[in-house]
Amino acid sequence: MTTPTTVTVRAAAKINLHLGVGAAREDGFHPLTTVYQAIGLCDDLTAHAADELSLELSVADWVDAATVPVDGDNLAHRAAVLLGRHHGRELTGRLVVEKSIPVAGGLAGGSADAAAALVALDRLHGLGTTDADLLRIAAELGSDVPFALLGGTALGTGRGEVVEAVTDVGTWWWVLVPSRNGLSTPAVYRHFDKLHPDADPTPPDAEAVLDALRTGQPLSLARALRNDLQDPAIDLRPELGTLITRGESEGALRGLVSGSGPSVVFLCESADHARDLAGALLRTGHPEVLVANGAVAGSHVVPSYV
Ligand code: C5P
Repeated sequence: MTTPTTVTVRAAAKINLHLGVGAAREDGFHPLTTVYQAIGLCDDLTAHAADELSLELSVADWVDAATVPVDGDNLAHRAAVLLGRHHGRELTGRLVVEKSIPVAGGLAGGSADAAAALVALDRLHGLGTTDADLLRIAAELGSDVPFALLGGTALGTGRGEVVEAVTDVGTWWWVLVPSRNGLSTPAVYRHFDKLHPDADPTPPDAEAVLDALRTGQPLSLARALRNDLQDPAIDLRPELGTLITRGESEGALRGLVSGSGPSVVFLCESADHARDLAGALLRTGHPEVLVANGAVAGSHVVPSYV
């Protein structure tokens, strides 16, 4: 079988519809019960055949290129190294990332790029890595990376890396307000520890959100949304609380910090409702407001017809 000379893989941003956090484990990670949803805000990663491994970047207007690491710290780069190690060889490729997912925004943009790199390099080199191995390598790269491979709507347990698809009959419309300044995930978890010194080791379950997903009703989901990192994130960035109040007073069914923040997402009733809310938030002075729906597919090859 001949291998392609170029492969493009699309990987979606995630939001957490439920993020239940337990007391830190001995390894420092927090046990989670989370419900992830992949939304239609995506990075595209193209791997071109090359003699060396390299990484290039182009970014959307709302992404600050200066904040994206392009050296060995980049998760896509690390994905190439780990996948190569699994196959006992060094993988090469010119990786070009077209970034639309904000950096350090609580939307798992770096994880999306890592998942896309795994799939793209697997195809570029005809490695035939099994799904189980890809998921295992993804878990080594970061807690959110297995979900970035899987997509759709899924329950995450462990530290978030154990993922399982769940029933979701709705089409959910979201307005996203990214922030120019990222928040550090470890800092938000540390602040959670400070605010909850007596946290239960067992994270709160996700039943309310799982039930709402089975109804497909936006109001039911709005009532069930929960993020245990929201209070710590707002404590570190009080303006996020103000933004949530503003979005809800402009008609959002519910506003929520996404993951460890600082992106804020607003659940809407329909596409029209989301566009109206986005317009209203733009008029109140937020320079960047995006509309996306979920759930969308996980990391997948974008067909090339040329
Ligand atoms: O797994 P990942 O590399 O994305 O995690 C980044 C950081 O976020 C960890 O080093 C840890 O500080 C924190 N974290 C955590 N509990 C989790 C996931 C992440 O404390 N379940």
